[in-house]
Amino acid sequence: MLEELKQRYLNFAEFEARNYSPSYWSFTTAVADDARVLELLATLPRAKQQPNLLLAVVRLLHGVVGSGREFCHVVTRDWDRIQPEILARSTQTNEPARCAVLLPVLAGLAEPIVLIEVGTSAGLCLFPDKYTYDYGRVQLVSGESAAPAFSCEVNKKTPLPSKLPEISWRGGIDIHPLSVMDEQDMEWLRLLVWPEHTERLENLNRAIQVAKKSPAEILEGDLVAGLEALVSRAPGDASTVVFHSAVLAYLPVGEREAFRRIVADLDLTWISNEHPSVFPDIVNQSTVEVTPDRFLLAVDGTPVAMTGPHGQSIDWF
Ligand SMILES: C[S@@+](CC[C@H](N)C(=O)[O-])C[C@H]1O[C@@H](n2cnc3c(N)ncnc32)[C@H](O)[C@@H]1O
Repeated sequence: MLEELKQRYLNFAEFEARNYSPSYWSFTTAVADDARVLELLATLPRAKQQPNLLLAVVRLLHGVVGSGREFCHVVTRDWDRIQPEILARSTQTNEPARCAVLLPVLAGLAEPIVLIEVGTSAGLCLFPDKYTYDYGRVQLVSGESAAPAFSCEVNKKTPLPSKLPEISWRGGIDIHPLSVMDEQDMEWLRLLVWPEHTERLENLNRAIQVAKKSPAEILEGDLVAGLEALVSRAPGDASTVVFHSAVLAYLPVGEREAFRRIVADLDLTWISNEHPSVFPDIVNQSTVEVTPDRFLLAVDGTPVAMTGPHGQSIDWF
């Protein structure tokens, strides 16, 4: 058990934090090496042992501490306050920059588009038509004032759109939706942005302002049980898209498969942007090597690209 937990923190440090957050790399590396902290984490339900959750809760209560050693010291000293916060909260990082990887897929569909996101958090990925993008060889500029601007590195094969998509309806579902109108919810979202990522934080704040102007319709519920009800609320005279990113890893394998069966029975386009471990059979279809530090973008179960986990890159196959 402790060995598995240690490996989980080492994997996070190596594959998720190393190149993106020196502080979180040092904290999670230290946790993996500290038997006392691992023992405390082992008392939590497995879903609550997640590195991102521990990192954000310690930050909520103590700010960004100075070193890995200090991080472990804070966790052991203040566990009585840290544990209930971990149990009450969950990782709901809402990364609007992930919209950058949606656009090449949306560009291939007839417009207008009905956009439905499962595991939507605060719904910030439901506004790909309202943000500004810099893909290097193509720039798409939003008409919104103070829109977030996302840079996304793309390979030559990526089919970039020449304009922003036309979206006629947007809706989402989440087991625990966050509201852009609730300042405490938004503060938690800000804490989930890694400390060094000041540009992401700025863009998050801008995306919140965009979403506040006309919040999307978001249902509270389980994405497997609630998908059909959500789809039935959308107007039928458009290309319907159901998408998800950084969500299905939170579901047991059986639930992921149940979701996939429901999506397959509906007349829509299914976009999955997830860690490669979520659908190993989709990875196996890829003729290009898929690495665990990127997400796999798939359309209707066919792999089309590897993407940066925060929407920062696309390598189209
Ligand atoms: C890491 S966040 C990702 C949010 C968003 N998709 C994005 O890419 O920015 C994962 C979200 O999935 C939601 N979630 C997890 N399990 C769920 C389920 N069974 N049904 C609905 N939502 C779920 C969580 O509440 C959380 O808001």
